[in-house]
Amino acid sequence: MTEQAPQARAAELRRLLEHHNHRYYVLDEPEVSDADYDALLVELRDLEEANPELSTPDSPTQRVGGRPLERFEPVRHLQPMLSLANARDEAELRAWLVRSERFLDKQGVEGAEISFVTEPKVDGLAVSLLYRDGVLVRGATRGDGEVGEDVTQNLRTIKAVPLRVQDAPPLLEVRGEAYLPRSAFARLNTERAAAGEPTFANPRNSAAGSIRQLDPELAAARPLSVWCYSIGALEGLGFESHLESLDWLRDHGFKVSPDVERHDDLDTVVAACRSWEQRREGLDFEIDGVVVKVDDLDLQRRLGVVGREPRGAIAWKFPPMTATTKLRRVSWNVGRTGHMVPFAELEPVQVSGVTVRLATLHNEEDLKRKDVREGDEVIVTRAGDVIPRVVSPSPKAQRSKSRGPVPQPPEECPACATPTIKPEDGVWTICPNRASCPGQLFQLVKHFVSRGAMDIEGLGEKQAAGFLADGLIAGVADIYELDEQRLTGREGFGEVSARNLLAAIDRSKQQPFFRVLYGLGIPGIGFVNARGLTGQLRSIDALLAATPEEIEKTPGIGPILAQTIAETLAQESTRGLVERLRGHGLRMEEEGPAPDEEEGPLKDRTFVLTGTLPNLTREEATEGIEAAGGKVTSSVSKKTDYVVAGADPGTKLAKAEKLGIEVLDEDGLLSMLES
Ligand code: IVH
Repeated sequence: MTEQAPQARAAELRRLLEHHNHRYYVLDEPEVSDADYDALLVELRDLEEANPELSTPDSPTQRVGGRPLERFEPVRHLQPMLSLANARDEAELRAWLVRSERFLDKQGVEGAEISFVTEPKVDGLAVSLLYRDGVLVRGATRGDGEVGEDVTQNLRTIKAVPLRVQDAPPLLEVRGEAYLPRSAFARLNTERAAAGEPTFANPRNSAAGSIRQLDPELAAARPLSVWCYSIGALEGLGFESHLESLDWLRDHGFKVSPDVERHDDLDTVVAACRSWEQRREGLDFEIDGVVVKVDDLDLQRRLGVVGREPRGAIAWKFPPMTATTKLRRVSWNVGRTGHMVPFAELEPVQVSGVTVRLATLHNEEDLKRKDVREGDEVIVTRAGDVIPRVVSPSPKAQRSKSRGPVPQPPEECPACATPTIKPEDGVWTICPNRASCPGQLFQLVKHFVSRGAMDIEGLGEKQAAGFLADGLIAGVADIYELDEQRLTGREGFGEVSARNLLAAIDRSKQQPFFRVLYGLGIPGIGFVNARGLTGQLRSIDALLAATPEEIEKTPGIGPILAQTIAETLAQESTRGLVERLRGHGLRMEEEGPAPDEEEGPLKDRTFVLTGTLPNLTREEATEGIEAAGGKVTSSVSKKTDYVVAGADPGTKLAKAEKLGIEVLDEDGLLSMLES
């Protein structure tokens, strides 16, 4: 290879790096490995250091760094950044079209054939990127629409933002929405929780917080991106349609949604909006609606602006996935192992189209960590969850000095009025009436028949409550003594459904032993420990005969838990239940290979799960890891390789961070399983 002059080589390196940046961050189709990319970047940095005159503001080396600012300077947008009128349903969208046509009629544009473009309405922070002669010279937030804040340093760190645009007009203002991908948001919150820092309520707040960081190094550490959706000021170039301008932006290196669509009538616009709503939860970025724009830019101009809103565009808004409301009361239930479970009674509020009155607060420890108090304004979400949950008090509530006391667990069990106790070594208050507390019994039946345990279809929460209330069953073993005669004629049961349920009950006898053990609801034996224990001690008889020391050999089970498990197993009520279930033909021995014999890409890797994952249940995540040869244990130690954290992670996450263990979110786990 002939030695290039430094100037020519620097120019080539810049071109190459921007090209690879675009492939990776805009198209999501990298051509080179990270290591190759880094090598090019290092070469350019060295070259610029040796020849400072070669350094330019649009060099990829300038994306990171820059000194922290005292404050952001105000900047006036060349064209105002407007907002959008909303349509909440089809009728409002149609009314918008009628209004627009009438308005155009008055302008003398009669019978205009209007075409539309639909695009996702990304829920982030609006930004404006100013290019002069193809070089990014300024980046700003929306501010009041006329004057925003100069956040150039931070926007430069976003790899999806081109620093230089080839064949650009002399002046170009690009508008877009900066956002943090959902997966990155989950990871960021997980890390913040572990570090004892306040978490962000949603990806939008985290994007806004990141862009408004005075220290650009902190902004650079957040994997932000920008979807571009329109052009503001423009000189030296003209477009006839909005879609044409988006195509131009895409062709010139900007990240534009590949799913923008043109429509010739409102019927397909409505269908597109509904389809986005369906896809919403599967996207890696949050959208709060669909923007519908008149495609013809001349018509857009004629339609003009009313107030701050252009008549030529409208936002089809989705119902929000989070809402703020007042927490009236913290109430308590009893869980299947007797622990007190807090839940929130809320002032009714609409969350993604559903009225929410109750929401989970997980457990005592979580309640304390979130610092939720009665009377607080709280943030409630249904995003990705079936059960609504309280995310946190609103920041306003947290700042208030006159807050109510920290909610305390009840002194008596809410189901059986037995005085509650807090075991010395435990974090949870429990109802000690394990044998006959009706609340625990109901939770236990619900758990026993659930998908991760015996998986009895047709016996859900409602049926379980009904059977218990009517004395049809008094415990889980009675399920195997149900017959057609007693079921038929009950509300919701005909001959066919009764027979189907009995068949499902019969089939459940084939479930493997670890599911039976998990179904027993023994304190300390969750899905993960049931897998571990049955891998180690392969039958119920071995388990019943095991000493606490032998139980402790299962990875993830410490001495205290081993003691609790041994004590519960030794109880008369547990032994009686086991014998009855054995009598009904349930499996009491593990038949698969012992875990040590498992092979797979994750062999010798140990995982711990904490918090609620957005899609996978704990059972599914465990099975996925085990199918790949990995091991899942219930507590974090130096032997743990990865901690997979979801929403509301507990102390396991903090421990992982302390020990420097790699933390994954669900996406991270899935990509590991796929590879
Ligand atoms: S067009 C002329 N298109 O929504 C109006 N806005 O409520 C300019 N947004 O401040 C906006 N995705 O931050 C437009 N595809 C999209 C958008 C979008 C998100 C945001 C934008 C704006 C707000 C308007």
